Amino acid sequence: MKPLTLRKLTNRKVLFVGGKGGVGKTTTAAALGMLAADRGMRCLVVSTDPAHSLGDAFDREIGDKVTGLTAGLWGLEIDPDAQAARHLDTVTEHMKQLAAPEMHREVERQMQMARMSPGAVEAALLEEVSRVMLEGSDEYDLVVFDTAPTGHTLRLLTLPEAMAAWTDGLLAHNKRSEELGKVLKHLTPSGSRSDVPTPFDEPDQDPFEGMDRRTRRIAETLLNRRRLFHRARRVMTNPDTTGFVFVLTPERLPILETHRAMHALQQFDIPLCGAIINRVLPADADGEFLRRRREQEARYLAQIPQALHGLETVQVPMLPEDIQGMRSLSLVAAELDRLGL
Ligand SMILES: Nc1ncnc2c1ncn2[C@@H]1O[C@H](COP(=O)(O)OP(=O)(O)OP(=O)(O)O)[C@@H](O)[C@H]1O
Ligand SMILES: [Mg+2]
Repeated sequence: MKPLTLRKLTNRKVLFVGGKGGVGKTTTAAALGMLAADRGMRCLVVSTDPAHSLGDAFDREIGDKVTGLTAGLWGLEIDPDAQAARHLDTVTEHMKQLAAPEMHREVERQMQMARMSPGAVEAALLEEVSRVMLEGSDEYDLVVFDTAPTGHTLRLLTLPEAMAAWTDGLLAHNKRSEELGKVLKHLTPSGSRSDVPTPFDEPDQDPFEGMDRRTRRIAETLLNRRRLFHRARRVMTNPDTTGFVFVLTPERLPILETHRAMHALQQFDIPLCGAIINRVLPADADGEFLRRRREQEARYLAQIPQALHGLETVQVPMLPEDIQGMRSLSLVAAELDRLGL
């Protein structure tokens, strides 16, 4: 397989922009969106950051509805907490339908606990990311995800399997769902890799035979969710359509974190396109202080090829001011264009 490259990055269908906190992920994702739109494509930039940073970058209200930003460019901010709440409401309804009425209070209590469990928000977020990715790649030429800091993203990418275990675990103690459990178990591929055949992609087989209507409806919902996750995984791991781009600054911790993240992403077969080294001191920045910063920076820049195992990189200079609004984003977009991205 030929290695992925940063060249003509906007020709992909789905891009994930990831990296340590504060290195310039949102800025880069927004600038890539501007670049794609400038090249006449229809592009959606999606952020999963509850802090609404995408709106800040564009200096516009965005929120959880797809919002037009300029010709060919749309933005969307997924709110993970709101998604989790919505998701758990649906699960609660399902559980209640399966449980005897005298158990309903217990179900509520359990779900209240689930709401606070660390996996809940990620699971709901993953569902929404998967949906936006699949629907978005039909509707847009390119979908760019501005992903939350690396650790979180990595967890998200490993979640399809954990998520299935979670949903089924909730049902495991319910007698009526035994039969449901059997069906789901039967249909779950044992591995997590994308080359494992997924039998539930066969639309003509009816795995619900013999179930009553209510159980069947729930089984269908659960199964649809799994289909969604598996399709999403397939897109996520397809190097013809998808790429993960790191952003880092030439400093110790971002390099270390990117190094670690590279390994983890490779384990999950996520195609890596390259890394953007952001906020590199411009050559003409002068003064004794900056000279010393530049010396340190030069040492880190020299370490990057080895730390990132020769992953392709480009350098984006530090601009004199923070980047906010279309005008300054287009300066970054022009820089990315000049670099051949
Ligand atoms: N090349 C650059 N030159 C100057 N300032 C930049 C550059 N890239 C990013 N910035 C500024 O650095 C700050 C952090 O950038 P950004 O919000 O894109 O980082 P992030 O990785 O998305 O952060 P977080 O992890 O908090 O989401 C912002 O104020 C942004 O304007
Ligand atoms: Mg950000």
